[in-house]
Amino acid sequence: MSTALYRKWRSQTFGEVVGQEHVTRTLQNALRDGRVAHAYLFSGPRGTGKTSTARILAKALNCSAPEGERPCNQCPTCQAITEGRMIDLIEIDAASNNSVDDVRELRDKVGFRPSEGRFKIYIIDEVHMLSGSAFNALLKTLEEPPPHTRFILATTEPHKIPATVISRCQRFDFRRIPAPEIAEHLNHIAGEEGFSAESDALLTIARNAQGCMRDAISLLDQMLSFGADRVTMAQVKQALGAVNTQAVVDFVGAIAAREAGQGLALIHKLTTDGASLTEFSHQVVEQLRAVMVLQMTNDPALLDDLPAETVQQMQQQARQMDLPTTLYAIKRFSTAVNELKGGFQPQLPLEMALIEVVQGEAAAPTIVTATAPYAAARSAGVSASQDAAKPAPIPSAPTATNATAKSEPVALDAETARRLWSRWKEYLAVVKTQCGQQAAAALQAVRDVAVTDHAVALAFGSNEFSRNLIAKPDVLPDVAAALSKFFGT
Ligand SMILES: Nc1ncnc2c1ncn2[C@@H]1O[C@H](COP(=O)(O)OP(=O)(O)OP(=O)(O)O)[C@@H](O)[C@H]1O
Ligand SMILES: [Mg+2]
Ligand SMILES: [Zn+2]
Repeated sequence: MSTALYRKWRSQTFGEVVGQEHVTRTLQNALRDGRVAHAYLFSGPRGTGKTSTARILAKALNCSAPEGERPCNQCPTCQAITEGRMIDLIEIDAASNNSVDDVRELRDKVGFRPSEGRFKIYIIDEVHMLSGSAFNALLKTLEEPPPHTRFILATTEPHKIPATVISRCQRFDFRRIPAPEIAEHLNHIAGEEGFSAESDALLTIARNAQGCMRDAISLLDQMLSFGADRVTMAQVKQALGAVNTQAVVDFVGAIAAREAGQGLALIHKLTTDGASLTEFSHQVVEQLRAVMVLQMTNDPALLDDLPAETVQQMQQQARQMDLPTTLYAIKRFSTAVNELKGGFQPQLPLEMALIEVVQGEAAAPTIVTATAPYAAARSAGVSASQDAAKPAPIPSAPTATNATAKSEPVALDAETARRLWSRWKEYLAVVKTQCGQQAAAALQAVRDVAVTDHAVALAFGSNEFSRNLIAKPDVLPDVAAALSKFFGT
């Protein structure tokens, strides 16, 4: 393959920049009205069009065509920029020229008038890589920009840029490009290159690129080099590591049904099939995110074009799971992705994530429900160890519902919890005299409390020893009785 497809297909006009209309329209208006800012900051994820748009703007500023038609891509200036030989366009990669000397040199040259065009234009890519002193030098230049100079700073990490620099720039945030728009662009490119493509195949490539057009075009490039004249779903699946969507849906189904065995069997099959577990995990997180969106909104329109059948399965999973479990699963599988680096048991991180999500994490707070009053605790047979065995999906948030997935939400009494917590030491003193030193010591391990109108939940963090001690049938009722007596309820 000669030039990479994504280079060949670099956008050359504002109209060709896909999915960033909020940027290109504003820039075109500014050009038309002759109100172009001295400095711009283009921020956003990689491969979304920042450098391309910066070059198009540079062209438009120096193009010799009538105002409404800039950039024309025909005039000598436009052509010189396209071919990378325009003297008045200075592109600096801050990743490799990040010293204060580099910026001083820039400052010294900034004073000179452009030699060919109307404007001397500096594009500083990866600007967040500049050193602190280099930023200061840049700031001086931005504070007193020569009239014939324009700056375009680009970055994937705007939070690393000093506020003083940002405030000198007009800022545009490039967004991740929605999958359907990427797919449409891929279809255009494939067609122009003399190929046809299954629309599902392109949509799968697009979704996989997660908003990054460069990655999407690269993957398409890979498909086209297979030699077939049609890009098919089968090809794409193979290239992505043979993870089929049904496996992902089934796996999340197993999580929703809390069927660890089914999930483990699926992982086993994927491993023996040689599928990419990383890719699989990415898709599991993506699917869980969709479930979360459905749980919050029940609006499938918020999901990128998915087959109706998949949406139905997701809706069922959204009903089956509770939101805290979904959130915990998203976090847990995102971590697992990073742990999947080879190892002698490559699937282990995934299996552990599955089990922790389904069964509750070992290190998660073990919650004892000490039901008050005393008599109710006895007659209802509330056994602390039973409660504690259920999963507690969000480690930092003990709740009285104790994550029994389908139970009605319980109203938490934050005021009483606060009151209880503020007098915890006094309560421990009471426990010490009424129930003994051991119980009081164990209760010191309590990290947090939650209260409802009929129950108190104690979170022990990872201290199972203390939890088990309090949960003993001959201790728990006395501790609960002391509690209700202490508070008079
Ligand atoms: N919005 C877009 N519309 C069309 N093509 C795009 C778009 N964004 C990126 N591309 C394609 O990806 C390639 C790289 O884009 P570009 O260099 O503009 O991205 P970038 O945002 O500067 O990325 P990075 O942060 O990695 O520098 C382009 O040559 C083009 O083929
Ligand atoms: Mg760039
Ligand atoms: Zn031109």
